[in-house]
Amino acid sequence: MRIIAVANQKGGVAKTTTCINLGASLAYHARKVLIIDMDPQAHSTLGLGFEPNEFDKTILNVLEPPRSPYHLELKEVVIPTRTPNLYLAPANIDLAGAEYRLIDKLGREDFLNSSIQRANLPFDYILIDCPPSLGILTVNALKACREVIVTIQPHYFAMRGIEEFMETINLMRENLKHDPEVYVLVTIADIRTNLYREVIEEIKRYFGNNLFKTIIHRNISLAEASSHGVPVMEYDPSSSGAKYYLDLAKEVIQLEEEKPGKRLLRKN
Ligand SMILES: Nc1ncnc2c1ncn2[C@@H]1O[C@H](COP(=O)(O)OP(=O)(O)O)[C@@H](O)[C@H]1O
Ligand SMILES: [Mg+2]
Repeated sequence: MRIIAVANQKGGVAKTTTCINLGASLAYHARKVLIIDMDPQAHSTLGLGFEPNEFDKTILNVLEPPRSPYHLELKEVVIPTRTPNLYLAPANIDLAGAEYRLIDKLGREDFLNSSIQRANLPFDYILIDCPPSLGILTVNALKACREVIVTIQPHYFAMRGIEEFMETINLMRENLKHDPEVYVLVTIADIRTNLYREVIEEIKRYFGNNLFKTIIHRNISLAEASSHGVPVMEYDPSSSGAKYYLDLAKEVIQLEEEKPGKRLLRKN
C-alpha cells in the first residue's frame, strides 16, 4: 500500500483537485484507492458529491485518542463513492476543532498514522488531502505518509513557499525520524505567462527527477467537475483535464516498481 499526502501550505494550488482526480485515475487503472479528507473545508468530500454536514462519523473521530468516547477506527468512517474502487474518509467543519483538541495530547502528530496502521485496510493507495497550513492536521498527514506530492502553481513566489514547506519536512526528519519522499506536481499552469518556464526550471534544479513530467495545465473542465461533485473523468472524459490526470496516474503507477508494496488483484 502506498500512502501519499498531497500538501502545500498555500491554498488554491490544486491539492484537492489532485486528490480527487489522481484518485479517480488510479481507480480507473484498477487500483483500490482511499481519499482521506484532512481539510476542515471538506473540499474533497464536497468534490466527490457529498454534503459534509450530513456526516456524523468523520475523520475527526479517527483523530480522537483511542480512549476518547468519540473515537472511531478508520474503517468505521470509510464510505464508497460513485466511482468504482474509489473510497472516502470524509471531513466536515468540525475538523477545525482538531487543532485545539489535540494540542495537549501526547503523540498528537501520530494519530492518523497509527489509525492507518491499525486499520490494515485493503487499499493500494491512500491519498491524503491536506489543509492549507502547516498545523497539526498537515503534520499528521505527513507523518502518516511515505510519499508527498507538493502541488505548485508556477508563479513568482511559488518557490519561497516551497522552501518553507521543505523546512517542515526537514524538522520531521530530525525530530520525528520520519523521511517521506517528496515529489512535485506543477498545477494550474498557464504557458502564456513568461514566468512559466523560469519557475519550472527552478523547480527542476531543486527537485530533479522528483518533478513529475506530467504538467496539469489550466483546464476549465477540472474546475467544473468539482462543482458538480464528480471526478473529471466522469464529468468530461474527453477533456484535457482528464488526460492530464490519467497521465499523472501512469507516472505514479510506474513508481510502484521502485516502491514495492503488495498490489491487490481484484475485479471491479
Ligand atoms: N488545472 C486546473 N485548471 C483550472 N482550474 C483548476 C485547476 N486545478 C484546480 N482548479 C481550480 O482551482 C481552485 C483551487 O483548487 P483546489 O484543488 O481547491 O486547491 P487547494 O486544495 O490547493 O486549495 C478550485 O476552484 C479548482 O476547481
Ligand atoms: Mg483543498
